[in-house]
Amino acid sequence: MSKVPYEAQKDHARQVDAHLGFEIEVVESRIERGQTDRETVRQQWIGLPTQSLLTPYTEFRYMLGQLHKVAPISDSSTIVDIGAGYGRLGFVLEAHFPQARFTGIEISEPRVAEGKRVMKAQGLTRSELIAADILEMDLPDASVFFTYDFGPPRSIQELFVKFKIAAKQRPLTIVGRGRSTRDQIERQYPWLTDIVEPKHLGQFSIYRTAE
Ligand SMILES: C[S@@+](CC[C@H](N)C(=O)[O-])C[C@H]1O[C@@H](n2cnc3c(N)ncnc32)[C@H](O)[C@@H]1O
Repeated sequence: MSKVPYEAQKDHARQVDAHLGFEIEVVESRIERGQTDRETVRQQWIGLPTQSLLTPYTEFRYMLGQLHKVAPISDSSTIVDIGAGYGRLGFVLEAHFPQARFTGIEISEPRVAEGKRVMKAQGLTRSELIAADILEMDLPDASVFFTYDFGPPRSIQELFVKFKIAAKQRPLTIVGRGRSTRDQIERQYPWLTDIVEPKHLGQFSIYRTAE
């Protein structure tokens, strides 16, 4: 587990954002100024400090290493971030597992536009960011998913209905980050916790269905 204080990881993430050329604060202020619908504000976590809205790069690096131990990341792996923000996970994945693919699904179009702009500028070739509501589309055909409190509890519940259906067709590995997601999994989804022992690793947990 990372011993680096969370504040230091956020600080590092701020520097990496600047290094990559992200203008996240500018985009977030624009989103905040333009959005008054309370439901949307809540769903998209508008107004939250950006380094709390997003997972630090260092944690993503640690998470991929842990994931690789239990579900090896191969050349044919695709990792999907449900509620991907700016697609930070794609940058870490391409740097350390250059043959794997990243798909980020994100409902906020300005976040997707900024993520795509920086992915292009940085020459990422195996990452895509899709502007869509995950609850209105089919789950991508992948086996490894990451999700960090992407919406209110009701939305997380709807997402897990989709995961349950997909798990009938293929083994799934799901990395859950955030209290709301993990509480719900532990309380309500025995199909994800009772067969393969979950790995709890600080801010996130790795859950797997049976092979
Ligand atoms: C807490 S942020 C996490 C961002 C990123 N996964 C990370 O860890 O850095 C959750 C994101 O989910 C997005 N989101 C919320 N509901 C969604 C939905 N129904 N479909 C797709 N994205 C959604 C929000 O707009 C927000 O950007």
